[in-house]
Amino acid sequence: MIHGHVTAWVLALILFFVALSLNKSGKAKGFKIVQMILRVLYLIIIATGIGLLFSVYKIDVWYILKAVAGLWVIGLFEMILGRVANNRRTSVFWIQFVIAWLLVLYLGFEKLPMSIFHV
Ligand code: HEM
Repeated sequence: MIHGHVTAWVLALILFFVALSLNKSGKAKGFKIVQMILRVLYLIIIATGIGLLFSVYKIDVWYILKAVAGLWVIGLFEMILGRVANNRRTSVFWIQFVIAWLLVLYLGFEKLPMSIFHV
């Protein structure tokens, strides 16, 4: 489950930057396709995240924070892509993007016990 979770968000992060570069080079059709694949990946990230939550004996506040931070990252993927496609400003969302990623990586890798490195 955790491998699926990590694979899904690594792939999503890569495709997010692919989508940004497609948009930059004016490839609207390619952009739309990648955006669609990304939405499927969001569902997989959320489903595997919930699956992981079900394997936890007692869900404490750190798990809630982890889930919220993960949803925040997904929301920002979607917001940033939606706004670049319409040529709108994204700076506020990029600042949040950095904060949300730092938080989610800290909670996932450091704070919470499960790990792809020893499971
Ligand atoms: C793009 C969004 C997300 C990212 C980047 C992300 C990132 C991570 C990372 C880095 C880990 C730790 C992997 C490891 O220790 O080897 C993890 C684990 C986990 N994630 Fe996510 N996640 C995201 C979304 C979500 C969502 C939406 C949920 C809940 C609905 C969720 C729930 C969990 C849970 C329960 C764990 C196990 C925590 C533990 O005990 O170590 N994640 N995630």
